[in-house]
Amino acid sequence: MKVLILYSSRDGQTQTIASYIAKQLSAEDSCEIKDLSQVGQIDLNQYQQVMIGASVRYGHFSPVLSKFVNKHVEQLNQMPSAFFAVNLTARKPEKRSPQTNAYVRKFLLSTPWQPTLCTVFAGALRYPRYRWIDRVMIQLIMRMTGGETDTSKEVEYTDWQQVSSFSQDFLALQYKK
Ligand SMILES: Cc1cc2nc3c(=O)[nH]c(=O)nc-3n(C[C@H](O)[C@H](O)[C@H](O)COP(=O)(O)O)c2cc1C
Repeated sequence: MKVLILYSSRDGQTQTIASYIAKQLSAEDSCEIKDLSQVGQIDLNQYQQVMIGASVRYGHFSPVLSKFVNKHVEQLNQMPSAFFAVNLTARKPEKRSPQTNAYVRKFLLSTPWQPTLCTVFAGALRYPRYRWIDRVMIQLIMRMTGGETDTSKEVEYTDWQQVSSFSQDFLALQYKK
């Protein structure tokens, strides 16, 4: 089986998660991984399953996500597909499901795509790597939401066990047809 994983990542965490999943899937299937912002023309007919991952920045997914989904919605809805979102709100377990994570809930309501599987992963907080203005803004948000405020810190909140189990669920889709 041939699988495609697409990711939209600004600071690298979604890409790291996508690569981790690709490695797990490669043990069973042929798996290609591509940056959504550089994918250009692509024929989804050559794949049996597609997964898309995207991170949130200042309340929004990158516009490349909706652009791609809208263009390929018919094919996406005809094959087993999966969506995963990455953000810091999901560092709180109670905000880590498609129903409880506001960004994902809003996305699912607005898109014609009906992914077979959908999940939310906690991302990473890497203060030293941010531009000054982003560092100040994120620190403010963290202060308001009871998160890490020490700007010398880098914290990875991603639960890799959760990522592995999502990969397994995605693999299992091929047997459900
Ligand atoms: C400038 C900036 C804005 C962000 N805005 C949000 C936000 O609105 N909500 C949220 O939950 N997380 C927010 N985050 C956290 C990111 O979603 C998190 O760091 C994620 O791991 C980024 O994924 P990426 O490295 O693939 O871009 C923001 C991070 C940065 C640096």
